[in-house]
Amino acid sequence: MSLVLDSAAQDLLFREARTANSFTDEPVTEEQVQAIYDLVKYGPTAFNQTPLRITLVRSAEARERLVQHMAEGNQAKTAAAPLVAILSADNEFHEELPALFPAFPQAKDLFFSERAARENAAGLNAALQAAYFIVGVRAAGLAAGPMTGFDFEGVRKEFLDDDHTPLMVVNIGKPGPDAWYPRSPRLEFDQVITTV
Ligand SMILES: Cc1cc2nc3c(=O)[nH]c(=O)nc-3n(C[C@H](O)[C@H](O)[C@H](O)COP(=O)(O)O)c2cc1C
Repeated sequence: MSLVLDSAAQDLLFREARTANSFTDEPVTEEQVQAIYDLVKYGPTAFNQTPLRITLVRSAEARERLVQHMAEGNQAKTAAAPLVAILSADNEFHEELPALFPAFPQAKDLFFSERAARENAAGLNAALQAAYFIVGVRAAGLAAGPMTGFDFEGVRKEFLDDDHTPLMVVNIGKPGPDAWYPRSPRLEFDQVITTV
C-alpha cells in the first residue's frame, strides 16, 4: 500500500524473482543487454564514479576458459547459461571522473590519487552497480544467477588485467526446469531496522 511501484513490478523485481540455477536455450540478445544497461546506468554511485565494468562471455571458447575457473558446483550452469557476464570493478575509474562528475572535477586528485583509496571506492560502488544490474536483468523478464564461487585471480588473469578486480560472475537467461532451490527465509524488519 505504501509503495508506488505497481504490484506486478514489485513481483517481477523482488517477490517472485529468484536466483536461477538452470536456463532454457533462449538466447539473450545484445538489444536486451543494451536495454538493461541503459536502465541501470542511472543507479547512484559516489561522485558518480560508476566503476562497474561488464565482460560478456559469448563465444564457446571463452565460455570454456571461464568454466575452468568456476567452483565445481557452478561449472555446469555456467557452461549451459545462454549468457554469462563477468562483473568487475575498474580501479582506474578516476580517469573518467572529471567528465562523470563535472560539478567537482578536483575529486579525482583530491580523493583518488592513491590506488588503495580507489580500490576501496571501486569495490563498494561497483558492488552497488552489480546489484542494480541484477535488478535490471529481472526488469528485462530474465533471471540472473550471480556467483562468487570462482577463482578470482584466475578469472582476473584470464579475462581482465591488474586494473580490474572481479566481483561476480552472473548467468543470465530465462529460467529452465527446476531452476531454483526452495526460497530461504529473509530477516524480518525488526531484526534489521533500528531507529535511534
Ligand atoms: C554475490 C552473490 C554470490 C553468489 N554466489 C553463488 C555461488 O557461487 N553459487 C551458487 O550456486 N549461488 C550463489 N549465489 C546465489 C545465492 O545463494 C542466492 O542468490 C540467494 O540464496 C537467494 O536466492 P533466491 O533469489 O532464490 O531467493 C550468490 C548470490 C550472490 C548475490
